[in-house]
Amino acid sequence: MAKNIVLIGFMGTGKTSLGKLLARKLDYQFLDTDQLIEAESGLKIREIFQRYGEAHFRQLEADLARKLGNTTAKVISTGGGFPLKPENIQQLRSNGFIVLLQATPKVIYHRVSGDESRPLLKNPDPLGTIGRLLAERQRFYEKADFVLNTDEGDLDQLCETLLAEWMKRGYGNGTTALKFGRSQS
Ligand code: S3P
Repeated sequence: MAKNIVLIGFMGTGKTSLGKLLARKLDYQFLDTDQLIEAESGLKIREIFQRYGEAHFRQLEADLARKLGNTTAKVISTGGGFPLKPENIQQLRSNGFIVLLQATPKVIYHRVSGDESRPLLKNPDPLGTIGRLLAERQRFYEKADFVLNTDEGDLDQLCETLLAEWMKRGYGNGTTALKFGRSQS
């Protein structure tokens, strides 16, 4: 069964950009939990937070995690708070390689500043909030199978590193092994 790649990590660590590239290279479908929730609810993430609060959004993430556990051949990019319910990660681990993307608070701040779509960072001290949330979430994020730092390195390099690890663990199928010119060992 073709194993999914599941990207977890804080906002602005590159989950969407890297996820799309990985999906293209593997010929897997790309899924983004925020986009799926928006499509299902007909509301933007910031509207869900405004109207119903964060707890409701976390419940929508948990409902989605249950559905995604049964999928195959997907690259799944998750919202930054998705691992806060450990059962979400358990669901996706049943057929997924869980990869944590990490970056320093400054780099994250630089990447997300000016983006109005992230309700948790819409406050007078976004950099401080990033540092605080990262510290609070560390214990959830560290449940990942593999960690990739995205502060430096271009997307292609990061993609190569991740796929090399994925193949090393024997998660690629015959086609991907051929495509990447490596044997599965
Ligand atoms: C959140 C991250 C966002 C989105 C929501 C909450 C978080 O996703 O799910 O705004 O709690 O860190 P991205 O990580 O894709 O920005």
